[in-house]
Amino acid sequence: MNVPSTTDKVMVVAVDGPAASGKSTVSRSAAKMLGFNYVDTGAMYRSITWKALEEGLDVEDTIAVVAMMHRIQISFELVEKRVRMLIDDMYPGNAMREPRVTEKVSAIAAIPEVRQVLVQHQRSLTRFGNLVMEGRDIGTVVFPDTPYKFYLEAKPEIRALRRKRDLEAMKIPATQEGVAESIQRRDRKDSGRSVSPLQIALGATVVENSKLTVDETAQIIVDHIRQQDQRRGSFSAGGA
Ligand code: CDP
Ligand code: CDP
Repeated sequence: MNVPSTTDKVMVVAVDGPAASGKSTVSRSAAKMLGFNYVDTGAMYRSITWKALEEGLDVEDTIAVVAMMHRIQISFELVEKRVRMLIDDMYPGNAMREPRVTEKVSAIAAIPEVRQVLVQHQRSLTRFGNLVMEGRDIGTVVFPDTPYKFYLEAKPEIRALRRKRDLEAMKIPATQEGVAESIQRRDRKDSGRSVSPLQIALGATVVENSKLTVDETAQIIVDHIRQQDQRRGSFSAGGA
């Protein structure tokens, strides 16, 4: 298995957790504190889903989706220390956050061939340098050898409230009940699938952040990494 680890002198911080647990915002903040690049792997599954819907595919039609995976061209660019995936040179932007994409993404993410392609790309992103990468299987599958693994958690009602506010900020109407139900359905699918289910990676530090701000949560991660590395006597990433 070609899995880069810290022995390649590239550090990978893996952040996993359920929907709206704070992965994206906390990882962005932690990456900034550490001076690392940030990778949102959920955005990759969302972009593939967006593309399949644009092409009018039935996301349950595995053969059609896999054929599309072979047809499209995937590339990456680094914009302000964030890695973005492009499909046929196009970045879908906020369109990937629309409910029609959110409702279908877990079906696309359960297709093994889709995961194989994306995981291979995700591992290759160490070419950009040190990374904070967030998703569902980063500590378990994508970079199982990294010593820096975190799992974010927050109460379901807090997560629903957070996501409702996000949607409203994007002018997408949402109710608390509707969002809670959608999150619950997706969590169930993501945790219950046979390939790379969402689970706490062995050795991961669980950070319950229902009562913490984004920056407080990120600081816990950064402090933990620094402590780990003091013990290992190896870490030299730039300070905040
Ligand atoms: O932001 P939110 O937590 O709502 O979702 P996301 O991180 O954008 O991920 C969208 C979906 O992609 C998840 O519900 C999973 O089905 C899938 N995903 C995955 O299977 N593996 C990952 N590493 C990241 C996301
Ligand atoms: O990526 P994921 O779906 O896990 O969550 P997110 O998009 O990072 O966070 C969802 C929302 O919760 C964002 O608007 C964050 O600003 C907010 N949040 C918060 O208020 N407090 C935290 N400790 C973590 C996230």
